[in-house]
Amino acid sequence: MNYEKKCFALHRRFNDDGYATRTTIEQMRVEKSIEHRYDVYFENDSDDDESVLKIILFRAEHIEYLKNGLFKPLDHHFYVLDTSRSWMVYWISLSLNLLGESDYLKKSLQIISFLRNCESPHGGYGGGPNQEPHLAATYAAVNAIVTIGNDIAFNSLNRVAIEKFLRRMQQPNGSFTLHESGEVDIRGAYCALSVAKLLHIPTYPESDLFHGTADWILSCQTYEGGFGAAPGHEAHGGYTFCGVAALALLDQLDRCDFDALMHWTANRQLSFEGGFSGRTNKLVDGCYSFWNGAVLPILQSWRVGKNQMVSLDRWLFDQEALQEYVLICCQNHPGGGLVDKPGKNRDFYHTCYTLSGLSIAQNSFNSRIVIGVSDNLVEPIHPVFNIPCQSLEALREYLKRKDNQEELK
Ligand code: FPP
Ligand code: ZN
Repeated sequence: MNYEKKCFALHRRFNDDGYATRTTIEQMRVEKSIEHRYDVYFENDSDDDESVLKIILFRAEHIEYLKNGLFKPLDHHFYVLDTSRSWMVYWISLSLNLLGESDYLKKSLQIISFLRNCESPHGGYGGGPNQEPHLAATYAAVNAIVTIGNDIAFNSLNRVAIEKFLRRMQQPNGSFTLHESGEVDIRGAYCALSVAKLLHIPTYPESDLFHGTADWILSCQTYEGGFGAAPGHEAHGGYTFCGVAALALLDQLDRCDFDALMHWTANRQLSFEGGFSGRTNKLVDGCYSFWNGAVLPILQSWRVGKNQMVSLDRWLFDQEALQEYVLICCQNHPGGGLVDKPGKNRDFYHTCYTLSGLSIAQNSFNSRIVIGVSDNLVEPIHPVFNIPCQSLEALREYLKRKDNQEELK
């Protein structure tokens, strides 16, 4: 690491004040492994401009890894993923789109027919063919279909059946169970809302769908400022994203403790690593580049929408540092695919959410910030839905046409 960079970074390292615990030892071990990664890029003899040009997104390798994963049968080691197949299709489709492969996706009719097989005759999608419908799997399937972004994909969506499924999952207190007799948590409320809003399914106050949901979500905000899975649970980046995106969709964000939420989220970005952790005193992980990284843009856009002054040129986190973490620390597999942190295995989940976080960090509302070579730029996404902006635009046009046709009938 060059001298200036090193001094700066040393300043930002974790300090255990001489009291080592299991957690502090683990934190320092991770920092060491990250320092090794940064060392490769910021050597003593190279100047900063030269170093930055070495930061490259390994686009072709990631594309190959993702395409290979799309239609490959599950390895027997991964049979546990059998209930996450609709998720895998979403993670891969979104990642490919972010990397500029939207035409390839539009031609892959097999994705649509596979997701059709995951549909339940009673509405909603399961994690794989002939499985019980599940709210998270339904969110993943709908997001994958919308990500593909053409009429063939959109025509496969059965809005009436999906609405029936959402209604069956709603509980009297406004929360949502993830499946019949399943667990209730904040993912259910977000997944249901995201699907309903995307597909123009009428919601509260036009209909009773989501009546009481905002109050239930608000009861999940903790004393720290983030949201937990359910009332009384620890604040966590994944659940905070769900709470914030859901309240934004309900137009009720101003009812939460906004300042504590901003403070908690911004403080999840680690000063040495550059990436985010999911909760207080836990380790950096590439997937939180999206789960936490998307929260601040949602909050900032909300404030601007309400004519409250806040910058849209920059998000309220260090966008350069997050890009460095994703590009330098999460790309350590020569065959493509991104990881949680150095030394971890690649997988489609982390590939999807590190790339989604990269997109957030590069694309502010009014400006673009790209670390490394200019070809590192990926497609912009909508932070509430985590769907490419272009696909969302195509869906809006499609639904406008469809709703007009229905009015004429
Ligand atoms: C803790 O894992 C993580 C969880 C308990 C789940 C987090 C929730 C999400 C990622 C959001 C899911 C969203 C949708 C839309 C389905 P850990 O203890 O291994 O990780 P940690 O140490 O980083 O907290
Ligand atoms: Zn992770």
